[in-house]
Amino acid sequence: MATPDLESFYHLGHEPLGDRACQGTACFVARHLQPERWRKALHDDTRVYCLGSCHVAPATTHETARPTARVRAPRAIALERVVTGGARALADYTRQGGYAALMRALSATPEALVAQVERSGLRGRGGAGFPTGRKLRAVAAAPGEEKDVVANADEGDPGAYIDRVLLEEDPHAVLEGLLLAAYAVGARRGHIYVRKEYPLAACVLHVALHEARREGLLGHHILGSGFSCEISLEVGRGSYLCGEETALLNALEGRRPFVRARPPYPAQAGLFGRPTLVQNVETLVNLPWISRHGGEAYAALGIAGSQGTKVLSLNSLFHRPGLYEVELGTPVRTVVEELGGGLRTGPLKGVLIGGPLAGVLPPHLLDTPLGFEELKAVGASVGHGGVVAFDTHTSIAALVHHVFSFGAYESCGKCTPCRLGARHIEQRFARVLETGPVSGADGWEDVVEALRLTSLCGHGTGLGEFAQSVLRYYREEVEACFT
Ligand SMILES: Cc1cc2nc3c(=O)[nH]c(=O)nc-3n(C[C@H](O)[C@H](O)[C@H](O)COP(=O)(O)O)c2cc1C
Ligand code: SF4
Repeated sequence: MATPDLESFYHLGHEPLGDRACQGTACFVARHLQPERWRKALHDDTRVYCLGSCHVAPATTHETARPTARVRAPRAIALERVVTGGARALADYTRQGGYAALMRALSATPEALVAQVERSGLRGRGGAGFPTGRKLRAVAAAPGEEKDVVANADEGDPGAYIDRVLLEEDPHAVLEGLLLAAYAVGARRGHIYVRKEYPLAACVLHVALHEARREGLLGHHILGSGFSCEISLEVGRGSYLCGEETALLNALEGRRPFVRARPPYPAQAGLFGRPTLVQNVETLVNLPWISRHGGEAYAALGIAGSQGTKVLSLNSLFHRPGLYEVELGTPVRTVVEELGGGLRTGPLKGVLIGGPLAGVLPPHLLDTPLGFEELKAVGASVGHGGVVAFDTHTSIAALVHHVFSFGAYESCGKCTPCRLGARHIEQRFARVLETGPVSGADGWEDVVEALRLTSLCGHGTGLGEFAQSVLRYYREEVEACFT
């Protein structure tokens, strides 16, 4: 029986989503296109941050338009099947070579698979960019009879709809990736945690699991091998924080999803204390390709430190919004101007890559390559690959207010700067928007520093990094907010 303490953490109940308008960042920057939708979002009883329909933002739960998907890389990897219409049914997936990677991996040792992934240079696509091979090896080597693997399908970053499309259109690739990961680390149990805001994805996964079970791709002695693994599906209840891996583990355990202090890392003590591998959906979808073509073929793409491809999701202000799989190292300018075709609504003022909890890239830095270290050097991030460009309709004061409003709403409340500081900054900028310049700028910069330096998880540090980049690149506009 769930406790009230647990219930109060989640923003959504057990009932269907119903008629809601989205309050995510892509909808926020597009609010001038359909002001009545945005007003509805602000007045809905419960906020919904990102329905994953950023290509048609401002969006509601009734949106059905499929985003276009294109590949601008030497090879299609993550979007291999999505660009040709997807492979929702098992028969479609196997017709396109699906589960061949698993079959091949099962005929070799788990160590061989770990070594392939290490050679690929793949880094996590969920935001932190941790080397996947290293994580697989850590879980494989962790002492313990029982281990778990988890697909993080919570995709909460406002502006990202990459995992949504992969889950809805290529669910078996996620299952195959998760099974490969389980085989590599010696796990017999897999879990998928999918957000409630993606009801179609949950439904498609449910069917895919059923099909896989029926065909002997799950359960005992998979494909006649000595490997056995079962996968379960858990649907979230509307909490951005549950995407943070340790909060997610607490949610799976049925506990209040606070962030856990590290160490121990999930690789050592994760779900119910067992060594656990948590990987993002897009990361997992890369694994079958790597297993089929080899780590070297993957590593041949991209740039040093950022190998392979990355899927990006572009918001509705672009002439050509949608999903793009690009080779890492591609200049951001190519993404914004060539692929997206620039903005259709006004002059470009900045680009948020990887969600609002990362730095803003101003127009003069568009030549920065899309690489983990390259973007970090200018205070931005690859993150999960949501690209939200905004135009001159959005003032920096309004953007800071929006991001901190989101930050305060989704904070798990464990650290003081995040719990109180985010709300303080939200309120301060709310006053600026209502009345014009307010007194005292220094207070908020101190909070930004505290967030960056003392937060327990990436939610607080990300808020700090966002604010720091705004102070760095839009200082004049920020200073105009204060007397
Ligand atoms: C506040 C917060 C929210 C996060 N949300 C997600 C998410 O929705 N999906 C995801 O894959 N990773 C998310 N992450 C990152 C996870 O903690 C973790 O690094 C990731 O799932 C690991 O998988 P990867 O190595 O394949 O990226 C989030 C992190 C933070 C700090
Ligand atoms: S930084 Fe914020 S979200 Fe993260 S643990 Fe602290 S209070 Fe929770």
